[in-house]
Amino acid sequence: MKFALIFLCAVSWVECYKILVVFSAASPSHFMLCNALGRGLAKAGHEVTVLSPFRDKNPPKNYREVVLTGFVENKEKVMPLNFFELENMHPWLSIYSMMSVSNTVNETFEHPNFKKLLNEKFDLIIMEQFVFESLKALSCHFNVPLIMFSIVGANLWSNIDTANPSPPSYIPDLGLSYSSKMNLWERTFNSLTVLINIFNNYLYYYPTQRKFVQKYLPKCANYDFNNVSFYLMNSHESTSEPVPMVPNMINIGGFHINPPKELPKDLKEYLDNAKDGVIYFSMGSNIQFSKVKPEIRDTLTKTLGKLKQKVLWKCDEDTLHGKPDNVKLGKWFPQSDILAHPNVKLFITHGGLLSTFETIYHGVPVLTLPVFGDQKLNAARMETLGYGIKLTFSAITEPDLTEALNKLLNDPKYRENAKMRSKLFHDRPIKPMDEMIYWVEYIARYNGAPHLQVAGKHLPWYQYLLLDVVLLVVLIVTIPIVLLYIICKKLCCSGNEKKKQKKE
Ligand SMILES: *[C@@H]1O[C@H](CO)[C@@H](O)[C@H](O)[C@H]1NC(C)=O
Ligand SMILES: *[C@@H]1O[C@H](CO)[C@@H](O)[C@H](O)[C@H]1NC(C)=O
Repeated sequence: MKFALIFLCAVSWVECYKILVVFSAASPSHFMLCNALGRGLAKAGHEVTVLSPFRDKNPPKNYREVVLTGFVENKEKVMPLNFFELENMHPWLSIYSMMSVSNTVNETFEHPNFKKLLNEKFDLIIMEQFVFESLKALSCHFNVPLIMFSIVGANLWSNIDTANPSPPSYIPDLGLSYSSKMNLWERTFNSLTVLINIFNNYLYYYPTQRKFVQKYLPKCANYDFNNVSFYLMNSHESTSEPVPMVPNMINIGGFHINPPKELPKDLKEYLDNAKDGVIYFSMGSNIQFSKVKPEIRDTLTKTLGKLKQKVLWKCDEDTLHGKPDNVKLGKWFPQSDILAHPNVKLFITHGGLLSTFETIYHGVPVLTLPVFGDQKLNAARMETLGYGIKLTFSAITEPDLTEALNKLLNDPKYRENAKMRSKLFHDRPIKPMDEMIYWVEYIARYNGAPHLQVAGKHLPWYQYLLLDVVLLVVLIVTIPIVLLYIICKKLCCSGNEKKKQKKE
């Protein structure tokens, strides 16, 4: 098999690269993207090796898995986060809680399957940009170009790596629920948040990650964390606000979505027969209803039970206290295929990015109950763009929920806006998956394509911010003034003294 592939590569003009895909976060939604990326590249004929804590149930040809076994089973060890605590945490404190995740990267470095991988050879690495900067040094270890994949689009870390401009005057930090139009107070808070993040990076995060590189990949101890060739970004202007992007960044948001497939027979019947429509309710893969406060669960069941629509509820429990008749529970649903069904009237979601893209792909309005990370920002955008309403999950009440549901189900404007966004999503010159494959091959073809990188990346920060120029201008302007002042003073003084002498 391997020989055949090498032979095929040698005799045909088809490019064929050995690609290492590294997604070490123990989060199912991250893996969904990793899996789509790896599958897409394998289908395009590349030899793909995926390093992640998860398994593909049915891996395709050319797609090899190196599993970080034990990560999923011991999630609290590699992902020490309480998602419900994060909901009401101050954004500055949540930076601190993410740092506790970053320090678990030793679990990857120490993993026997990871260690075995270090003896192999690759042409290219694609890595998710999360809180594991030290793993980037793999590109130095294998001496190959590094492509980063940003789950959330342009952010502080990708902007540092590429010298991408990102003025805090109109680009809100990921952890805040601001839009691009901020008032004076919001801009102040946003700028402070960005500044704290930058200080945290340079004073804590990079130095501690550097220690991991020194320990586990000592040959690469001096590796530059911003030696990144390219950024693939899981964002698109149809769902997020437009931001500047340097030439080595592209948007491939929504690339993971496949055209709708036929639904399983029972679900299809259920949806087809829903005369009054269906509401699909899922809080994603990280939030478990078994851990949600009973009051909140009761509010949800009570309010949803009063609706004439049917409700498909993705829930990790087999049954809920007071489950109404119009609610059908399930541990897993083919989300994107369900959203494609014309009888689905509304999606109740936590506002994660995958769900955001899937709802926009099919043009379904949303009620968002954001909990952590970028979900609040996504929820704020959906409200601004007019296809969603957001409520606070931990403070949800029956009247608020009823009012929001009534608006979303009865006012056609929400559906029209969702359809419009969907049109913008699909109206692109090339499908996002094909665009991803094109650029990955391009980076391999031109050995990292350094010609795409802006020079700002290599400037020291004081030059980038023109502080040296400001200093020079200040000096040029003030030196003559000061000199003039001194000369004048001297002249006047000597004049005075002469007068004084004459008087005497
Ligand atoms: C990683 O580091 C933590 C804390 O420093 C430690 O408790 C844990 O045992 C380490 N894991 C491995 C696999 O060495
Ligand atoms: C950066 O990475 C490229 C490979 O893409 C490598 O050729 C180059 O030497 C690296 N530069 C530094 C300063 O590490």
